[in-house]
Amino acid sequence: MGAAPAASGFARRLLRWHDRHGRHDLPWQRPRTPYRVWLSEVMLQQTQVATVIPYFERFVRRFPSVHALARAPVDAVLAQWSGLGYYARGRNLHRAATLMVQRHGAAVPRDFDALLALPGIGRSTAGAILAQAWGERFPILDGNVRRVLARRLALREWPGTPRAQERLWREATRLLPRTRLADYTQALMDLGASLCGPRAPRCDGCPVNTGCAGWVQGLVTRIPARKPKRARPRRQAHVLLLRNAEGAWLLERRADDGIWGGLWSAPVVDGDWRGACRERYGIEPEGAKRLPAVRHAFTHYQLELKPLRIDTRSPPITGAGRMLSWVTLEQLPNYGLPAPIRRLLEAQATGAGRRIRAHAPTAALRQARNRV
Ligand code: ADE
Repeated sequence: MGAAPAASGFARRLLRWHDRHGRHDLPWQRPRTPYRVWLSEVMLQQTQVATVIPYFERFVRRFPSVHALARAPVDAVLAQWSGLGYYARGRNLHRAATLMVQRHGAAVPRDFDALLALPGIGRSTAGAILAQAWGERFPILDGNVRRVLARRLALREWPGTPRAQERLWREATRLLPRTRLADYTQALMDLGASLCGPRAPRCDGCPVNTGCAGWVQGLVTRIPARKPKRARPRRQAHVLLLRNAEGAWLLERRADDGIWGGLWSAPVVDGDWRGACRERYGIEPEGAKRLPAVRHAFTHYQLELKPLRIDTRSPPITGAGRMLSWVTLEQLPNYGLPAPIRRLLEAQATGAGRRIRAHAPTAALRQARNRV
């Protein structure tokens, strides 16, 4: 790694660019009061500037101060929030206003820890409020800024790891200028929202491209790296497609807890499927045919289902706590089945249906065919 580029050059160039091309007439900049800055920062947490502007203007007209906001019923606040989404933000805003009345004389506190202790204000939002409302020297690291700095550092790893976060916060702090913190903060966010956007960054026009290691190394479009997908562990199980002499299939209602809780399914067994047939279901398997495996992804693992088609003449064990049922293809739509099991049965039944084609296909069979 070479020496880090001078921090002062970054801020100077960025501010010069912002003076010429940045946004200077956003409603929370005129006037830039702590209350308006706080409100706008919370609204902008997950919503774009263009969407926020009319909401912001209506909101400050209706609730012009911390006091007015704290005094209003939460439903009135949420009504004004309606359309911005993420309603927890609206609720938190109202709770924070109440706490500001109780703890800070109905003012937005000019203190990092006091801000951080309020609902809806994280480290970056607290920094953004202090920098923009009072010109305090605090860094920010919202999604846009994170991308700008990850590129600047040519950070190849996903920027969400604690190690990457620490590096990014350190760089955000290192780059801070001594003056014009409000403009600098807005400029950095504007850069991330425009030239240094997520897709097709326009590096040629970027005022800080020379200090950008990602640009120098030709890595910009690959940064930020995506969050690595966790490799899901694989599990295997047999699915027993048991068919009796009448052509009905054995379904079992699954326990309420665990996968597919409460749904009906062909029996799913680990390991010794012959033993399970005899002991769990009292069925003597008379010839089994292996069918192609199917994969099904759950949140925490991937299940490989190995279907076995088994013909039998014996009725299954029924009794206390067991919910077993022989189900014909026609009855299948009345049962709640997991999608992969339904597909397997319908594919089998459709195959069986072809051999008894002399009859007109039933509605259920037609439905089953359409779905396969
Ligand atoms: N995102 C968060 N705060 C912002 C601001 N002040 N301007 C533009 N985008 C933002």
